[in-house]
Amino acid sequence: GVCGDLQNKKILITAGPTREPIDPVRFISNRSSGKMGYALAEAAVERGGEVILISGPTCLPRPSGLYKYIRINTALEMRECILKYFYWSDVVIKAAAVSDFRPKSYSEHKIKKNDSATEMTLQLEKNPDILKELGEKKQKQLLVGFAAETDEIKENAMEKLNKKNLDLIVVNDVTAEGAGFEVDTNIVRIYYKDGSAEEIPKMTKKELANVILDRVVKLLKN
Ligand code: C5P
Repeated sequence: GVCGDLQNKKILITAGPTREPIDPVRFISNRSSGKMGYALAEAAVERGGEVILISGPTCLPRPSGLYKYIRINTALEMRECILKYFYWSDVVIKAAAVSDFRPKSYSEHKIKKNDSATEMTLQLEKNPDILKELGEKKQKQLLVGFAAETDEIKENAMEKLNKKNLDLIVVNDVTAEGAGFEVDTNIVRIYYKDGSAEEIPKMTKKELANVILDRVVKLLKN
C-alpha cells in the first residue's frame, strides 16, 4: 500500500500450525487454520505496511500485496526463517501455533505396524521457544504474542508476556463459543506490559486484526 498508518513499517507475521514429521507419510500437528495470522497480514498490507508472512501448512489463499510470502513446515524451519528477517522488522506478530515438541528421530522409511504389538512409543524432544528467543534478541522490535488458555487466564498471560519480553499478548479463551480454532470469529483479551488488560468483544478475525494493529500503531508512536 502507499498510504495508511503502517506506511514505512516492516511487519513480520507468522501464521498456521507447524508439522513435525515422523516418517515420510506421518506428522504431528495441531488444529490451527492460519486464519488469524492471514487476517493480520491482509489488514497490515491494507494499512500500508511492508509485510512478510511466514506460514505453516494451511489451505488459505496467499494474501495479495505482501513483500514476501514464505511457506515452512517445521518449527525449526520457522525459527530459521524468522531469525533471517528479525532485524529487518519493526513489528513481529507471532500468530503461529508452533508445535512444542517434535519426534526425536525421523524414520526415512514408513514405520511398519507390528501385528503382535498393541502399543508403540514415540519419543519427542522439545522445540525451541522462538518467541522467547526473539524477546532476548529484541532491539527496536515491537513483539506481539498469542496464547490459547483454558484457565488462570490472566496469570498465564502475564507470565508469558514477561518471560518472552513481549509488548502485548492476545489471549484466546479457547473454551468460549465463537473463539479459537477454525472459526471465523474470535473473543480475546489483550494484556500489556504495564499489567493492564482490555476485553475485546466477539468479532471477525479481520476486525480483530485491525484492533490489534490499532494498538500496535499506538505503541509505535510512544
Ligand atoms: O505456546 P505458548 O502459549 O507459549 O505460545 C505463546 C506465543 O509463543 C505464541 O505467540 C507462539 O507463536 C509463540 N511460540 C513460539 N515458539 C514456540 C512456542 C510458542 O514462538 N516453540
